[in-house]
Amino acid sequence: MNIPIDLINEAIKAREKAIAPYSKYRVGAALLTEDNSIIHGCNVESKAYPTTLCAERVGIFSAIAQGHKDFKAIALVTDDGAMPCGACRQIMAEYIGDIPIYISDLNLNYKLLSMQELLPYAFTSL
Ligand code: THU
Repeated sequence: MNIPIDLINEAIKAREKAIAPYSKYRVGAALLTEDNSIIHGCNVESKAYPTTLCAERVGIFSAIAQGHKDFKAIALVTDDGAMPCGACRQIMAEYIGDIPIYISDLNLNYKLLSMQELLPYAFTSL
């Protein structure tokens, strides 16, 4: 696996699975686990709008449900290379640790960010 390009391409494939009939805004996530598995996440929207789940959280929670706890990298893809929402930043800070975060558009124009850059002073009590 060539990081980040192969991982971003996995996130592009994950994005194709998004269900986003309301926003039409598709998001893909791909996590590279410590044992070199790839886990996909995509946004899944709901008729009751706030119950929608973001791609990042779908990916992280899916990975956890499949028994993965340690990660090497994550790639996030949207058509415009947008940054993750605040709720996803919190879950990322809690569950993926200090790994490279590649945020890309569909043309593989990507930024590499750290968790500290994305969410300084994260809530970590409890
Ligand atoms: N979305 C994500 O999947 N991740 C984010 O970090 C921000 C927003 C989704 C939720 C919704 O389905 C669509 O993008 C528009 O907000």
